[in-house]
Amino acid sequence: MGIWGLQQHLAVALLLFLSTATATADPNDEQCLTHLSQSLTDPFNNLQNWTQTTFASPCQGLTSFLHGATCNNGRIYKLSLTNLSLKGTISPFLSNCTNLQSLDLSSNQITGPIPPDLQFLVNLAVLNLSSNRLSGPVPQQLASCAYLNVIDLHDNQLSGPIPLQLGLLARLSVFDVSNNRLSGPIPASLGNRTGNLPRFNASSYEGNKGLFGYPLAPMKSKEGLSIMAIVGIGLGSGLVSLVLSFAGVCIWLRVTEQKSADEEGKISQLMPEY
Ligand SMILES: *[C@@H]1O[C@H](CO)[C@@H](O)[C@H](O)[C@H]1NC(C)=O
Ligand SMILES: *[C@@H]1O[C@H](CO)[C@@H](O)[C@H](O)[C@H]1NC(C)=O
Ligand SMILES: *[C@@H]1O[C@H](CO)[C@@H](O)[C@H](O)[C@H]1NC(C)=O
Ligand SMILES: *[C@@H]1O[C@H](CO)[C@@H](O)[C@H](O)[C@H]1NC(C)=O
Ligand SMILES: *[C@@H]1O[C@H](CO)[C@@H](O)[C@H](O)[C@H]1NC(C)=O
Ligand SMILES: *[C@@H]1O[C@H](CO)[C@@H](O)[C@H](O)[C@H]1NC(C)=O
Repeated sequence: MGIWGLQQHLAVALLLFLSTATATADPNDEQCLTHLSQSLTDPFNNLQNWTQTTFASPCQGLTSFLHGATCNNGRIYKLSLTNLSLKGTISPFLSNCTNLQSLDLSSNQITGPIPPDLQFLVNLAVLNLSSNRLSGPVPQQLASCAYLNVIDLHDNQLSGPIPLQLGLLARLSVFDVSNNRLSGPIPASLGNRTGNLPRFNASSYEGNKGLFGYPLAPMKSKEGLSIMAIVGIGLGSGLVSLVLSFAGVCIWLRVTEQKSADEEGKISQLMPEY
């Protein structure tokens, strides 16, 4: 059976190839880390071993040589860089860390947009970008990351609507976009989930001035405003009518004064002089 032998040889060759591939650096992870370290700034030098030589080989099996990185099978599968006073932006090349399951960059001062390229992280289960200064939209493309369990974007400066598409994420169990600048209606697919999908209460949506709909309470701030407007209109119209009637009285007084003066004149003209 020559074919059998050939198959066995091929299998051994494949195994050898795979084991060497996992032992050496992954070019995608290297791209990812190189670009990320360039786009972020680290004013307190917290990431001392984030150097180009480490990027070339950040993992050895389970061992990571990088602060904040966790490895599995020679690939980075978890990045956790929280509360490190990091500034700068999130590189779109982060999407080259294709084995990433958890990305936590929370509690820093990162600015700029959330790159839509994160959609290529098809294994991503946890995305925590909370407590930063991220702006721009919540990318609808995140709906492509079918394994997403956690989307925590609270305390940023994100604007625009909550994308309807995120309602498609069936595994989502934590969704928090509170304290941003989001606007528009909360999609029912996220605000009022049906079946046995985990539901999210008002605390997930609070602190966004332009956001409305269930489960947020019907516009408290708007009611407050309209009460103010009613009081304002009342006071304003009261003042206007007061001014108008005062002016009316003045004019009437003047006219009657004029009249009586005229009449007095006439009378004095008619009266014979003594
Ligand atoms: C990299 O830095 C982290 C924390 O600063 C440290 O725990 C880790 O041991 C360092 N790794 C290497 C290989 O120096
Ligand atoms: C964040 O880092 C600062 C300074 O290193 C530290 O004082 C603070 O306790 C940290 N906060 C959390 C929540 O870990
Ligand atoms: C790395 O990421 C960039 C930005 O998303 C993308 O253009 C490029 O195709 C990616 N490279 C690979 C090898 O996937
Ligand atoms: C995201 O990170 C913040 C700050 O590090 C933490 O308090 C919060 O619990 C995290 N979110 C989730 C859903 O784990
Ligand atoms: C939520 O969904 C249920 C079932 O579809 C519906 O009966 C209910 O009216 C919805 N509630 C709101 C506030 O939209
Ligand atoms: C809202 O949901 C959060 C997170 O799931 C939970 O901690 C909190 O107790 C809930 N609040 C209410 C009022 O149900």
